[in-house]
Amino acid sequence: MASLNRVTTLSEAGIGPCYAECSAFSKITMAEDIILETRGLVKEFKGFVAVNDVSIGVRRGQIHALIGPNGAGKTTFFNLLTKFLIPTRGAILFNGHDITAEKPAQVARRGIVRSFQISATFPHLSVLENVRIALQRSTGTSYHFWRSEKSLSQLNGRAMELLETVGLENFSNTLAVELAYGRKRALEIATTLATEPELMLLDEPTQGMGHEDVDRVTQLIKKVGANRTILMVEHNMNVVSSIADTISVLQRGQVIAEGPYNVVSTNPQVLEAYMGSTEAELEGGHG
Ligand SMILES: Nc1ncnc2c1ncn2[C@@H]1O[C@H](COP(=O)(O)OP(=O)(O)O)[C@@H](O)[C@H]1O
Ligand SMILES: [Mg+2]
Repeated sequence: MASLNRVTTLSEAGIGPCYAECSAFSKITMAEDIILETRGLVKEFKGFVAVNDVSIGVRRGQIHALIGPNGAGKTTFFNLLTKFLIPTRGAILFNGHDITAEKPAQVARRGIVRSFQISATFPHLSVLENVRIALQRSTGTSYHFWRSEKSLSQLNGRAMELLETVGLENFSNTLAVELAYGRKRALEIATTLATEPELMLLDEPTQGMGHEDVDRVTQLIKKVGANRTILMVEHNMNVVSSIADTISVLQRGQVIAEGPYNVVSTNPQVLEAYMGSTEAELEGGHG
């Protein structure tokens, strides 16, 4: 576990001196490439400890899932990463930079983007318009909305590519409000992808969905995760088992197990946490 918590650079590995120029190189070539790391992260609400000494390392290129019973602290942990909450103690490092004291907009600019939040959709605009606005926002052209026919058609081209990625190419003229639930989530993923996130955060992407939508969104996450890093909170064990490379299990604010599905799913503490989930839910309350 200790090895998870650090980036091994070439110099640390004893392969010659490594200066600023080569650190980027070492980061993409070493097997232990950690894009996001938390060190002893703690969040207290008036004495109630919602996140308790959490140290995790998310490897670049992986789909990393955070699971745990209700009230385990998953959403609070996400809110610490996106800076919507300030940690009581501990540190957050992104690509080796300490971002603990940064503001939400700063970490968003660094490429940490949470879906269903920064990229909220506009219900009464079409699917294509929604993606186009997300693209304009990320390229900084928002204030020159219809600047020229040329830039508009470039945006349309890129927007259509993104719609194809998420399987919405036949819905480009549909109003967002008229999409079925699973397709709404697909649109939200497209608008998030428009910002070209380096680390994509998904909080319960399949929550409240029926079977078919769960499968559709699961496959979509797997597809977009093929060349990106995703950290996701997920309740549905089938989803986690089929797409997550690494799973961290939270219980009462602490990581109780970490590893691939076959390892964590046979961990006695994890089994107990899940079988005792009703109890954990009750105890999770702070009031
Ligand atoms: N703003 C807050 N003030 C006080 N307690 C909170 C606040 N946010 C979350 N909590 C408590 O922290 C615990 C973890 O909540 P949360 O992170 O939402 O869990 P999860 O997402 O795993 O279900 C819960 O007991 C919750 O009641
Ligand atoms: Mg939650």
